[in-house]
Amino acid sequence: MENKAEKVKPYDQNAGKKSQIEKMFDNISGKYDLLNHVLTMGIDKGWRKNLINMMAKTKPEIILDVATGTGDLAILAAESIADVYVKGLDISKGMLKVGKEKINKRNLQDRVKMIHGDSENMPFDDNSFDAITVAFGVRNFENLEKGLKEMNRVLKPEGSLFILEFSRPKNALFRYGFNIYFKYVLPFIGKVTSKDPKAYKYLFESVQAFPAYEDFLNILNNAGFISNNYKIQSLGICSIYSGKK
Ligand SMILES: C[S@@+](CC[C@H](N)C(=O)[O-])C[C@H]1O[C@@H](n2cnc3c(N)ncnc32)[C@H](O)[C@@H]1O
Repeated sequence: MENKAEKVKPYDQNAGKKSQIEKMFDNISGKYDLLNHVLTMGIDKGWRKNLINMMAKTKPEIILDVATGTGDLAILAAESIADVYVKGLDISKGMLKVGKEKINKRNLQDRVKMIHGDSENMPFDDNSFDAITVAFGVRNFENLEKGLKEMNRVLKPEGSLFILEFSRPKNALFRYGFNIYFKYVLPFIGKVTSKDPKAYKYLFESVQAFPAYEDFLNILNNAGFISNNYKIQSLGICSIYSGKK
């Protein structure tokens, strides 16, 4: 089943989404980390930490971070969970290049590996990982259902999935105020800083179209996950979805 976000694309609404997403993240890769932390005022670090704390309770030994980008979540997992081994997969070579530099700087190259590939057709065997994480990735998939089913395939039986994604605040007043920032201020800063005027406009539009809360739990359920749940972050700006194989 197609969701509305699959139709929201950064550049050309009549062309395929995947190649546009790859191009967009290659374009902004040099500024991605800085903009991420500035535009969220550093709050994104807390969201990632909360996800890692939830995952740590499942005591994983091998983790896959899908749509790893510049590797923030993969690195945090390796730094937070003793002896864990992390593979990060991403379709953008530009984002992975920045990620590899960060991993080398932290001397984590033996425990965190960055792999170029597509989340909808992953280069991994069935039942390979104890846990899978995705931060701000699934909204960008060309085919969400295919991507989630791939995650289910490579997850070990009883393995856990943790997805951090924007979810639109539930409180109407807070949502109104937040959306002024998200729709006007953030794309303006993104435009002058990242040199890609479309990227941060796409961010707002894709979040509005993406299924949140119970709607996303239904999609997880349809992709084969069980015990699905979500935890609201920062009044619903984001949510952490979790499920099991
Ligand atoms: C907003 S960034 C998130 C990066 C990182 N997880 C983080 O938390 O900062 C989204 C990432 O998803 C990647 N992506 C989108 N579609 C993908 C796909 N089909 N396969 C692999 N990666 C994909 C993009 O290249 C980009 O690096």
